This record gives sequence, structure tokens and C-alpha cells, in this order.
Amino acid sequence: MTVESVDHRPFGQISPALLEDWLRERYFTLPVDISSSGVQNYSLGQLRDILGITMRDLDRVEFRDSPSVGCLPLREVIAERFGEGRAETVMVTHGSTEALFLALAAIISPGDEIVVLQPVYHSLYSIAETLGARLRVWRLDPEDGFTPDLDRFRDLLNERTRAVLVNFPHNPTGATLSAAAYEEFLALIARRGCYLLWDGAFTELVYDGPPLPDPRERLERAVSVGTLSKAYGLPGLRVGWCLAPTELLTTMIKVRDYVSICTSPLAEFLATAVLRDGDRVVGRRLRQAAVNREILCAWALDNQEHIELPLPHGGVSAFPAVRGVADVREICGDLEARGVLIVPGFCFGYPDRMRIGFGGPTDVLNAGLLAISQVVRGTADGED
Ligand SMILES: Cc1ncc(COP(=O)(O)O)c(C=O)c1O
Repeated sequence: MTVESVDHRPFGQISPALLEDWLRERYFTLPVDISSSGVQNYSLGQLRDILGITMRDLDRVEFRDSPSVGCLPLREVIAERFGEGRAETVMVTHGSTEALFLALAAIISPGDEIVVLQPVYHSLYSIAETLGARLRVWRLDPEDGFTPDLDRFRDLLNERTRAVLVNFPHNPTGATLSAAAYEEFLALIARRGCYLLWDGAFTELVYDGPPLPDPRERLERAVSVGTLSKAYGLPGLRVGWCLAPTELLTTMIKVRDYVSICTSPLAEFLATAVLRDGDRVVGRRLRQAAVNREILCAWALDNQEHIELPLPHGGVSAFPAVRGVADVREICGDLEARGVLIVPGFCFGYPDRMRIGFGGPTDVLNAGLLAISQVVRGTADGED
């Protein structure tokens, strides 16, 4: 458990998002991409087929500005599917990245004490740090298979805690809270009365039971963030959202006026259609991810001499270590030479690990895993 006190610094000095730096240089050139934290992408044509959207429907979209919080039909469908049905608590954003930024800007002042997971998606950590928060780190340990330890969490909370920032199911480890642990987690936060920023980017990508309910059912000061980028296979649509107390939304709108003003009516039209029929869009990708997860686990077992893999319980990313290797970057280089893209763990502060995304096409996953086994076993192409 560490407490880091940092100075409030200009946003231009924010720590680089190492994950984005890594992907930016490779994403568009490597053909075997098993780096992603989302499911297989949909094309516009596939979406139109699934949802019965005609070209005439698209032609009717008018490119005027949308309301600052997003158009009402989309807010209603988000409130219905994820919240308590109250559209006034919903803001539509440019991916959940914008929702995280705006919510953190609205909640945090310099010197605030914040509890944040580690490892964690960079937005949760770096934005709070740049805003001058004092960060108390809730570490997920590989020795525990990354299972969140609530005793450790309890010890980090105190009367100065302003907010708790978490992401479950978790990127990159696939860890999550059991239903009982979730209840206890919420009860601990309720007792403190602080904010909870719940990054639910992977809420619907679960394998062993139903998704966890939205924390706003239980906590008035919860902000819950979602996205079409992960479970829905639509990262390029750039639609996310947050459910938040209305007074917080007022501050978020004020900040948004300097960042993006509003979302696109075309993206909103498509997102509304997607979420009205959400189960169909998510269902087929979730089934594929479940099959792929079995393949990944079988692969890890076959390669257990070299690979140590905590079972991912949610999401479509796993965070294995390569035994005896302190930094996997050289392995990533060998994989790159074979056209395979993964994410080295240093991007998350764990250089001995790698993030493997298993949500994509099954043949691509198989090709990527085969290449990793060949590299870690030191065998040549074709041998196995
Ligand atoms: C945990 C988590 N939260 C938020 C995001 C942001 O995604 P987007 O802005 O595409 O919704 C990501 C993307 O990788 C993520 O992994």
C-alpha cells in the first residue's frame, strides 16, 4: 500500500499513455492482432443487417449539434438498459475515455485522497495524478491470481477519501468481484460516503454468472461509465456514457464545452439502434469470446512450463507471465517479426507479463497463440 503525493501540474505534462504509444506504432501494420481489449469489430453493413437500418434511415440524420448531454432517445435507452430508467442522470460521451476525463475533472481537486486500482487502465490513474490527487494504490497481486483483496481495500479508506476509482471486470487481468465481494465493496464505500467512479467498460463480458448490477442502484455518489467499444465491437463509433448524480453532470457539461461540445448525431443514431437491440449485438460476440477463452486456457495449460496465466473471469483480455522472463519486450519484438501484435506488460507497470486479447476472430487468436508458444519455446516456424 503506497500513498503518492503529487503536485498539481499542467495537463500538457500528463504521463504518456504507454499502451496507446505502443499500439499507435503497430496497430495498423501487424496482421495478427491479439492485443485488443474488445471483441471482434462490426462493420456498418453488419450492423445494418442485424438491426434492420436502411440507407434511407441514415440519410435522414441531420448534422446539427446534439444537446450537451447527448440526444434524448439515446439517453433513455442507456438509462433503461444500464441505470434506473432516469435519462436525466445520463451523459453521452466520446467513448468512455471522455466520460472518465469529465467525471474526474468534476470530482477531483488538488490534494484530494483517491483510492485507485493497480494495475489499471491509464485514464483512471494519470488524470487523477495530473489533477493533483493523493493516490492510494489498491494493488491486485499476481500471487493471488489478481483477485481483489477487500481487507487491503478497507485499509486504504479513511475520512479523507474523496473517491474510489475501479474497473471491473478488469483490464488487463480479467479479474472481477464476486457478487458477495461486490456487496461488501459497495457497503464499505457507502459507509465512507465518498464517490465511486465505476469503469464498467466490460460489464457485459462475463462468463460465470450475470453481470454485476450498476452501482448507482445502491450508491447515490456513484458514477458509472460504459462504452460501445468493448462488448459491442464498435470502438470506432466513439460512443460511451456515464450515469452520474445530476449536480456532477452540470460540472461535467461546463468542462465539456472546452473539450468536445457534444457527440455526433450520426454516432448517436447508430448507438440508439444498437442499444435498443443490445443483446443481439453483444450475444454473438460474447459466445465467440467464451469459445476463445476456452482455447486460451487450454493453450496456457499446454504451455504451462513457460506460461503462468491467471484465469480471466471477465472482459476479453488476459495477463499471463512468461516464466523466467523479467521483461517480455524482446518476445514482443520476435512476435512483431512474425506479424503478431500483443501488449507488453510494462505498459501496465508489470514488465514480466503480456496482455493477450482473446475477443477477436478465433483463427487470428489461434495463429497468435501458436506464434507465442513457438517464441517462448524457442522453436522455429512450422515446428511445434
Ligand atoms: C478499462 C477501460 N476503460 C475505458 C476505456 C476507454 O475506451 P473507450 O474510450 O473506447 O470507450 C478502455 C479502453 O481500452 C478501457 O480498457
